[in-house]
Amino acid sequence: MKIIPGSHSLGATVTELDLSQPLTDTDHRLLVEALANRGVLRFPNQTLTARQQFDFSARFGTLEENVAGMFQEPGLPQVMVLSNIVRDGKPIGIADAGQSWHTDMSYSATVAYANVLYAIEIPQRAGRPLGSTQFADMVAAYETLPNEIKRRIAGRTATHDFAKFWDMMRRERGSARPALTDAQRNTKPPVSHPLVLVHPVSGQRALYANPGYAMWIDGMDRSESDELLAFLFQHQTESRFVFTFEWTRGDVLMWDNLRTIHQALADYRADEPRLIKRCQVMADRVLNQGRTDRHALAAV
Ligand SMILES: [Fe+2]
Repeated sequence: MKIIPGSHSLGATVTELDLSQPLTDTDHRLLVEALANRGVLRFPNQTLTARQQFDFSARFGTLEENVAGMFQEPGLPQVMVLSNIVRDGKPIGIADAGQSWHTDMSYSATVAYANVLYAIEIPQRAGRPLGSTQFADMVAAYETLPNEIKRRIAGRTATHDFAKFWDMMRRERGSARPALTDAQRNTKPPVSHPLVLVHPVSGQRALYANPGYAMWIDGMDRSESDELLAFLFQHQTESRFVFTFEWTRGDVLMWDNLRTIHQALADYRADEPRLIKRCQVMADRVLNQGRTDRHALAAV
């Protein structure tokens, strides 16, 4: 296995590793370190069944089973289908997943650690890939915060709400997502997490806020919280922190949700098919050997 870092603070390419085969303990350890240090890992030229994608992903933590219960691989509800393809009048996947800055599952008591996506069909136009995924580096974003802001967010937590992103997509992006029912809202009550976390592998401090789900800073006057979050949202999405990943069919992409925020670019049409399968690794094992206590997310 070779790990080749790119020129941005995020991103490395991993070659000479066949993800359809069981991962050795040594390679597993090296990948955990590389993921923490580079945030985003690309494994080109892979050929995976859904089961093999599941097995690789599950080495890193418990896999989330999406509560919506839709667009899952038959028999493997932890493998979700992201796609704009419609077959026999029925969509085969979620068409507009992640099309605005967020980090996965910050609305959940047990947050997401890693995502593992496998590209089966990638739209192209004039030889250029469409539907790129952008990442922003939250270690760099924290390091470059003014000292006054670091002081104001030190020891603070923020409340995250699943409904914020969903409602925004419906209201501002014309999404075909149905309105969330009260029952669905009640299954995902808002949760609080530290605004600055210590990465469990690298020990680096990272800003843990995102425009998709962060609602307010707990225990702070609402107008001050709004003003401070607006500053953080603007700062953390500055282009100097952003790494844009262009997909190639056969890529497996793995990223660290504790180190990065991300968004999918919606620059392709309904008749330009995109098909990606996703596993979501929860942060239970990486935070504390299988404990699912959210307070294991170490705060600064
Ligand atoms: Fe996402």
